[in-house]
Amino acid sequence: SHRPLIAPSILSADFARLGEEITAVAGTGEERADWVHVDVMDGHFVPNLTLGLPVVRALLQASDVPLDCHLMIDDPDRWAPGYAEAGAYNVTVHAEAAHDPVRLAKDLRAAGAKAGLSIKPDTPLEDHLEVLKHYDTLLVMSVEPGFGGQSFIPEVLAKVRTARRLVDTGHLRVLVEIDGGINTETIERAAEAGVDCFVAGSAVYGAEDPGRAVAALRTQAAR
Ligand code: DX5
Ligand code: ZN
Repeated sequence: SHRPLIAPSILSADFARLGEEITAVAGTGEERADWVHVDVMDGHFVPNLTLGLPVVRALLQASDVPLDCHLMIDDPDRWAPGYAEAGAYNVTVHAEAAHDPVRLAKDLRAAGAKAGLSIKPDTPLEDHLEVLKHYDTLLVMSVEPGFGGQSFIPEVLAKVRTARRLVDTGHLRVLVEIDGGINTETIERAAEAGVDCFVAGSAVYGAEDPGRAVAALRTQAAR
């Protein structure tokens, strides 16, 4: 497999210094994040409220690292294209919330972004297989969405393996991404199950040196 992608989640960063926190993972070499993961929560789809489009626009100005926007919101059909138009690299919506996911993927791509589809830990992949081929990324949640710092749910690895097999045998151009409880220990199991892109919040921004944490995660994922 190819080089693992590492996407630090700024949910665990210092919100008073978001620009600096992004810069901390926007260096060079192994310490540079591939994407920065931005968790948008609306207080309805998940029981937490974070940030929205105005903050994403400011983050887009703060560095040149591609933004991976994870929208944990109701009615993404209405709100997600705005993030693509603003310049987010990848815009991920929840399969449980999207009304017309095929059309939404087309809208996101037409606005210049990659389109991501996410499923919560208890959501079967089988329920959303038909629409997967219209997406660029599949984000498998390995914690219940809403909060950083939760423990990895190992049962989701079965879904990752199934996704890996379907993508490879179906020759789909879909990256498999995982989000929740990823650290230098759990990342090895996720990598072995076939994950391409690893989101990590507390493991990066809870570390003394976020850049070095990115490098450490990448090393463990590539083993
Ligand atoms: C949770 C978010 C995650 C979160 C992960 O709802 O989607 O992106 O930041 O945080 P950790 O890596 O600490 O589990
Ligand atoms: Zn996330």
